[in-house]
Amino acid sequence: MDELQNPYRPGAGTQPPALLGRDAYINHFGTLLRRALNGMPGKSVMPIGLRGVGKTVLLNRFTEIAENEGLAVAFIEAPETGDLRSLLTRSLRKILLTFDARKPSAKALKALRVLKSFQMQLPDGSSVSLDLDALAGTADSGVLSDDLTDLLVAAGEAAVERDTGILIAIDEVQYLTAEELGAAISAIHRTTQLNLPVVLVGAGLPQLPGLAGDSKSYAERLFEFPAIGSLNDSDARAALVVPAEAQGVTFTDDAIAALIAETAGYPYFVQEWGYHLWNHSQGPRIDLGDVDGVRTIVTDHLDRNFFLVRLDRLTPKEKEYLAAMAELGPGPHRSGDIAAALGVRVESVAPRRSGLITKGMIYSPAHGDTAFTVPLFGEFMMRTKGRA
Ligand SMILES: Nc1ncnc2c1ncn2[C@@H]1O[C@H](COP(=O)(O)OP(=O)(O)OP(=O)(O)O)[C@@H](O)[C@H]1O
Ligand SMILES: [Mg+2]
Repeated sequence: MDELQNPYRPGAGTQPPALLGRDAYINHFGTLLRRALNGMPGKSVMPIGLRGVGKTVLLNRFTEIAENEGLAVAFIEAPETGDLRSLLTRSLRKILLTFDARKPSAKALKALRVLKSFQMQLPDGSSVSLDLDALAGTADSGVLSDDLTDLLVAAGEAAVERDTGILIAIDEVQYLTAEELGAAISAIHRTTQLNLPVVLVGAGLPQLPGLAGDSKSYAERLFEFPAIGSLNDSDARAALVVPAEAQGVTFTDDAIAALIAETAGYPYFVQEWGYHLWNHSQGPRIDLGDVDGVRTIVTDHLDRNFFLVRLDRLTPKEKEYLAAMAELGPGPHRSGDIAAALGVRVESVAPRRSGLITKGMIYSPAHGDTAFTVPLFGEFMMRTKGRA
């Protein structure tokens, strides 16, 4: 069928043609936001889940809702290197300048001066242009958690004066350094106590609650970590059927059953399968023969676009560790069993394991357990053994 009309969207953060199975989170977020605007900020939401389950898409949906409610939005993707101070400086500068541009405002001006102090602590000093004097003694201690607290309190007060709020959305939160994550938690703790309309949402890999708890013991009272996973059978079916039906294309029941089994309901796999099926089928009815016909093409795309790209960033030793996990079968696996499979002592592979956690390849679902953060990664390793 015509690729130009293909509704499916395999990608990173690309809005799916139908966003299935997330209504409860979206409604909950809407309520939370409106309560914050009414001076009753509550817990911050941080959806967590494996690669490709739709965390970024959900975060994008949250920012849309916030924009529709008139909030100012800062969307930040945490880089692996950690650079929160400069990323926040840039996005808050934009927001505060907009507050001030609409009508000169004492609070926005003050917040901009606090921002100036905040950015002076950056290694490259005043690289962001702000044509005003820093507010000495505020946000300039060099201690990130104190400075960020000063900044978000000032920004929150400016938002109140403008009768609005601020949403800070951070994707890939697990890449923040411990200091940055701790600072974000402390700052939001303070703005929440002051009933300021500053809302933090984030998304990250499943190790996030552990990281947050290590940073601040009260994190679990401040954050909710809903687990975002694969779609259940009826949502996976709808994710495939709804976009096609809009163009008069249908699926046979056995084709759908095969697709649910192939994708295990993982959103990224659903989009990739839908995309190639569409391109290679004659239509208007997609059947089991079509599914069988594109299997090699889809597997090849998944290997190259979803799995292999992640392996490229690893050292040979790290790859060996993942291969040993894959050999052990579907996880999670005890760290001791993985070390045994490698023929070494647990302590000697601990640095490799923590390196892989930092790179976001594996996580620890329970103490001493290790699992892949990429769905079906073990199967991929086994399939491409000797080739990868
Ligand atoms: N609820 C959903 N229903 C159908 N498709 C979805 C859904 N959520 C996401 N997708 C699709 O899945 C793919 C992956 O989404 P997204 O990039 O948001 O995942 P992610 O969890 O952020 O992945 P990563 O951890 O690699 O960043 C995209 O192609 C997107 O269109
Ligand atoms: Mg993402």
